[in-house]
Amino acid sequence: MNNQTISFASGKGGSGKTIIVANIAYALSKINQKTLLIDCDFSTRGLSFFITKGLTDYQPNNCLLEYIKGDIKIGDVVPLHISDNIHLIAPTKAIEETIHFETTNPESYSVALYELLQNFKNDYSVILIDTQSGTDWKSTLACSLADLSVLVTEEDKTSFRVTSIINNLIQDLASKKNIENDAIIKKNIRRGAFILNRCVREQSEDVISFLETGLLQSKYISTILYEPKVKLAFLLDDFVLEKYPEAEFSIKICEIIDTIFKESESIHNTISKLKNEFSERKESSLKMEKRPMIRIKSLTFITMYLVLAVAVFSIYFQGLQSDLIRIFLLVIVAILGWEFLEIIRITEKR
Ligand SMILES: Nc1ncnc2c1ncn2[C@@H]1O[C@H](COP(=O)(O)OP(=O)(O)OP(=O)(O)O)[C@@H](O)[C@H]1O
Ligand SMILES: [Mg+2]
Repeated sequence: MNNQTISFASGKGGSGKTIIVANIAYALSKINQKTLLIDCDFSTRGLSFFITKGLTDYQPNNCLLEYIKGDIKIGDVVPLHISDNIHLIAPTKAIEETIHFETTNPESYSVALYELLQNFKNDYSVILIDTQSGTDWKSTLACSLADLSVLVTEEDKTSFRVTSIINNLIQDLASKKNIENDAIIKKNIRRGAFILNRCVREQSEDVISFLETGLLQSKYISTILYEPKVKLAFLLDDFVLEKYPEAEFSIKICEIIDTIFKESESIHNTISKLKNEFSERKESSLKMEKRPMIRIKSLTFITMYLVLAVAVFSIYFQGLQSDLIRIFLLVIVAILGWEFLEIIRITEKR
């Protein structure tokens, strides 16, 4: 088992944390890596809502808050079974419960979450934590407990600025020594990593290097472009990888997993196979999309040629006396016919 805990955070809301986390879990489940999802977004419960297809009320022993409040003991926490390889701990049993956080202090939250992670670490290959966007203390604390904290950002300056603030908060927390239980916070947490999402283009190496070494001070993982199919799958509560395996997003998720778990050869081999499968799907779907267009083009060319040939031959048989003109017309028809065939051949090849 890889026993990795990876958290996802963002400065601005709607950057795509939840959809990325859910689809990483799906891809990991496909390559037989057992994954525990911990939804630490107490404000929207977006991941729990998505992954249970809208189920809103959970049993107390499926939830984080009930355990943190001390209503249930750690041994009583039972993650919700989503599929054989995906289990979930939801934030609260009902959305109104969030209010109880007013009485919870950061230190006890930190200790409780740390113990929870320790408790489940050996049962799962990977633990993924989704968080609330912004500087919410529950999010930054959860991220500071992870082995790797991934920031999801859009490509505008505001997103970069807030992401940088969040990253500093997480890194500060991770290296803080004056928290009661020092063992909780790893002093040498990775510098963090970031994903650019909902982008309109791939970023140049200069921009990436500026973000890595300057503004964000963390490692670049990947750029994901804005893709309508992603939005559509989310709308329908479907995994993008399941509904649209041919989407570029599906391929990117495989690449992200490969980068995050680069030390694991078994993950590398299996995720590469899944990525190849998605790439093939993408290629054949591109071919399918082009086919009707090619047919229309070929038909247009053939029709044009036939009209021209009929016109030329009707002139030809209407008593043109000069052999020279007849030969000239025949040559023109032959050349045009050849050209049309060439155009059709090239278009279909593409
Ligand atoms: N690459 C993408 N292309 C198109 N749509 C995307 C992409 N990534 C995310 N989205 C869409 O953006 C919206 C927000 O995504 P998501 O809920 O995952 O973000 P979030 O960071 O978890 O938001 P919140 O801060 O509210 O929890 C969703 O409708 C999702 O489908
Ligand atoms: Mg979310």
